[in-house]
Parts: sequence; structure tokens; C-alpha cells
Amino acid sequence: MITQTVKPAAGDTAARIAALNRGDRVFHVVLAQQFDRERIEQLCRLAEMVRRVAATRHGTQFLNTLLSYRRAMLYFIQPSTRTFLSFTAACQVLGMPYNSVRERSTSSEIKGESEDDTVRVLSQYFHLIIIRHPAEGMAERTAHLLNEMPRTIPVINGGSGKDQHPTQALLDVYTLFRCFAPQRDEHVDPEYGGNPFAGRTVAFVGDLQRGRTVRSLAYLLCRYPGVRLLFISPPQLQIGDDILEYVRRHDIEYELGDDLRARVGDCDAIYMTRLQDEWDVAGESKSIDYNRYALTWDMAKDFKPDLAILHPLPRRHELDQRLDALPQAKYWEQVRNGMWMRAALIAFIFNVDNAIRDHFHSYYAY
Ligand code: NCD
Repeated sequence: MITQTVKPAAGDTAARIAALNRGDRVFHVVLAQQFDRERIEQLCRLAEMVRRVAATRHGTQFLNTLLSYRRAMLYFIQPSTRTFLSFTAACQVLGMPYNSVRERSTSSEIKGESEDDTVRVLSQYFHLIIIRHPAEGMAERTAHLLNEMPRTIPVINGGSGKDQHPTQALLDVYTLFRCFAPQRDEHVDPEYGGNPFAGRTVAFVGDLQRGRTVRSLAYLLCRYPGVRLLFISPPQLQIGDDILEYVRRHDIEYELGDDLRARVGDCDAIYMTRLQDEWDVAGESKSIDYNRYALTWDMAKDFKPDLAILHPLPRRHELDQRLDALPQAKYWEQVRNGMWMRAALIAFIFNVDNAIRDHFHSYYAY
């Protein structure tokens, strides 16, 4: 059971974003709302370039020099496999040394040091803090604490409570772009495929109320006019009103439902999620029949041929393992895309994105 929260930052979203950005450039990465379409696609293009450049020994050696003079701290005091490892791999791609704290019990917090002071200390040794924390709002609070330090360093939100997971959402959009608008080998389209989401239906399935990846991805998809969002969940775990209000404000068509089987054939992408029962206060999700929110083998006959099935993972039983063999299963590629997208994001924050672009253009015909 996890109940900790940090008070949300005061001010409207525009003011909150202004405190995280530096002019029109992203500095701290905390909220998915910081990313407009241009920024999202800039990062997708960069991720694609990093991946192509890293495919050769020479390219890998070039990438390895880019941030060898900077150090990252992964402050991850909530369980993580993919986010942690993909960030460490992303640091390695860029030659950036890193260290980690993964247990409160090994830090001086156990002696009574406040989390705020822990963050202040970390900021003295490193050039970047990547934080995963059970408390909503902690990543944003960390950004504000760092803004007040004489030496301000950026923070990246690697998952904050039930609230947001913006880097997962970026890699999810990157994965959808690669499914809906594949790029030619020698070419990274400057438009990055225009708007391949127009006219497509993206379904979110499962525990949408407590799934932070869903919340962040919904924010990003609102940047794509013409996309249709389908939120399929147990009624008591439906997506929050704050997200629906944002969806409406952006004129995005959406529907709420609870019958996955009936809608599978309408979907161009299905984003599965597990039951987030670690957030239960009194075992309330025990009464939910989550089998109704599982993608099963017998549903495959209704899949569109170019359907993309995504899952942030870890999975339990909501995604039948037999589906892994189908071309529609994109979740392993999604895992790998996370490494490239996170490398692109770190490169962007440290202003080495142009060096990657120059290298890419000098080795690939354009
Ligand atoms: C997710 C998370 O931690 O929010 N996992 C991830 O980062 N890939 C999803 C989950 O735990 O269900």
C-alpha cells in the first residue's frame, strides 16, 4: 500500500511548464504537457538517428564521446526494470557515467535526512537526476528545489506516483510512429510522417485511473487532431476527469467503455495495462473481474492486420503470451525503443542533438 503524495505545484499548467522549461526549450522533463507536436517529432527523429548511428562501430564510438564529461544519478526508490535499465543503457550509449540510489534504506534518509536534502546533495555530484518516486508531484518538487540551488541541474521524471510517466509516453508515441509511418532505411523524414494518427483509433485498456503511463500518453496523443481515443476499463478504474477535460479541450473524439471484446476489431492500436493493485487502500480491486480486460488468443481473429499492440510492461495475465508471436505484438520493440528515445532526450537536454544530426547527415544520404 502506497499513500504518500506531495502537494501539486501551484499555478496553472502554463506557469508550471514555464518553471520546467528554459525559454522554448525543455530543461526539466516532468509533465507530458511540456511536449507539443514539434518537440515530440523532433525527439522521434533524433531517436531514429541515434539508433541508426549506433548501428556501426564508428557511430557507437562517436556517440560515446558526446556526454563523457557529464554524470547522471538515477534516484529510483520505487521498483523498476525497464525504465531503470533503459536509462542506464541510454547513458551508456552517450558515454555518460551514471550512479544510482535504489533503496531508501541505503541512503541517509534512514538517519532522518529529508528527501529535499537528499536531492540537494545529489545535485552537487551529478549533472542530471532521473527520479522514480512513489509520491505524485515529487519530480516536479525536485525540479523546483533544483531551480533554487546555486547550481541548477535538470531532472527527468521516470515515473511519479499514479500521476505521470512522460518518458514512457514519448517512447510509446515513437513506437506508434514506427508502426503507422515506417521510415525508409537511409531516410528520416523531416516531417516524421505528418500526422499518421488522424483517423486512427487508439484504445487504452485496464486500470486507467492509476496507470501513469496511460495518463501521460493520453496527453501526448491530444497533440494529434483526428485521433480517436477509446478508454476501456472497469467502471471504478476509468480514466480521470482531469484527462477527459484535457481531451475535450483539445477537440479529440473519445469514448468510454467496458467491453474490450466488442471493440477489438475497431482498433488501430491497443494499449494494454496491468491492474495497479499496489495502490489499493483496502484491497478494493479484489472484487474486480480483470479477466474482462484481458487481450486473449481468441480475439486475434478480429485484429486488423496492421493493429499495433502495446504494453508498458510488466504484464500479468491481461496479455496472452501466445499473442507475442503475432506481427501485431509491438511490445518488445517498444521496450527497445525506450532506450533510443531516452538517449535522444538526454542528448537534447544537454544540447548535443545537433552533433548527432550533423553526424547522421554526413553518413547517410538525405
Ligand atoms: C509502468 C510503470 O512503472 O508505471 N512500467 C514502466 O515504466 N514500463 C507500468 C506498470 O508498472 O504497470
